[in-house]
Amino acid sequence: MALLDKHSVIEKNATLLLIFSFLVVTVGGIVEIAPLFYLENTIEKVEGVRPYTPLELTGRDIYIREGCYVCHSQMIRPMRDEVERYGHYSLAAESMYDHPFQWGSKRTGPDLARVGNRYSDAWHVDHLTNPQSVVPESVMPKYGFLLNRMIEPTYIEDRLKTDALVGVPYSSEMIEAAKADFAAQVDPDGDTDGLMERYGDKVNVRNFDGKPGISEMDALVAYLQVLGTMVDFSTFEPVASR
Ligand code: HEC
Repeated sequence: MALLDKHSVIEKNATLLLIFSFLVVTVGGIVEIAPLFYLENTIEKVEGVRPYTPLELTGRDIYIREGCYVCHSQMIRPMRDEVERYGHYSLAAESMYDHPFQWGSKRTGPDLARVGNRYSDAWHVDHLTNPQSVVPESVMPKYGFLLNRMIEPTYIEDRLKTDALVGVPYSSEMIEAAKADFAAQVDPDGDTDGLMERYGDKVNVRNFDGKPGISEMDALVAYLQVLGTMVDFSTFEPVASR
């Protein structure tokens, strides 16, 4: 009772109440924020996660330009219904080289965080050209024009440099070879040694749209096919269970 009486002093004095509220919020804020300055990294590195190849990065820019994120998220939440539908929940490390990340929460269409390798390239080309031809009830717009838009990687070095500036580990060698790597990824008969050496031998090298030349469709499908495939979940163990 005595304690409550003392408390009524604070309640009846607006200035005092304000000062104490401010103190409480400050202490709470420091407790939450200060440790972040002492942690070396808030994202745990995971084996397999690598920067996008020049072609995939271009596809990602097309994904953003076309507003695919308006209907699609790229984050599988750690809940049973999500994991059963889409696969292993997303790890922070899987989007550590995404600037900006594509997590989102709007799902007019399904989550795409693990759509890589789920369908064939031809399925993606058919689906993007005319979604209703493969999923009759789909409300997704048609993107067939991407097949006719050919791309020259004119600014690809600058594009990689920009990402390097915000911490994506593109080496000077990767930046120098960006144009060559861009072309190598759609040419299975060409020399892909350099590309594999820089980005790993799991990189998909194919003529993604099945047509001559490098189109925006090639780049977008290359991007979709790598989504969620970098980490090998048959061997992955979260830190907590090690
Ligand atoms: C107006 C909303 C909308 C937009 C914009 C949109 N989509 Fe979709 N998308 C959907 C819907 C709805 C589905 C589910 C039906 C279907 O498969 O077509 C879907 C399905 C998909 C699938 C198949 C996913 C799966 O797991 O079956 C892919 C891949 C996809 N979209 C990629 C894209 C890309 C790439 C873009 C941008 C170029 C895009 N979408 C833009 C609504 C949209």
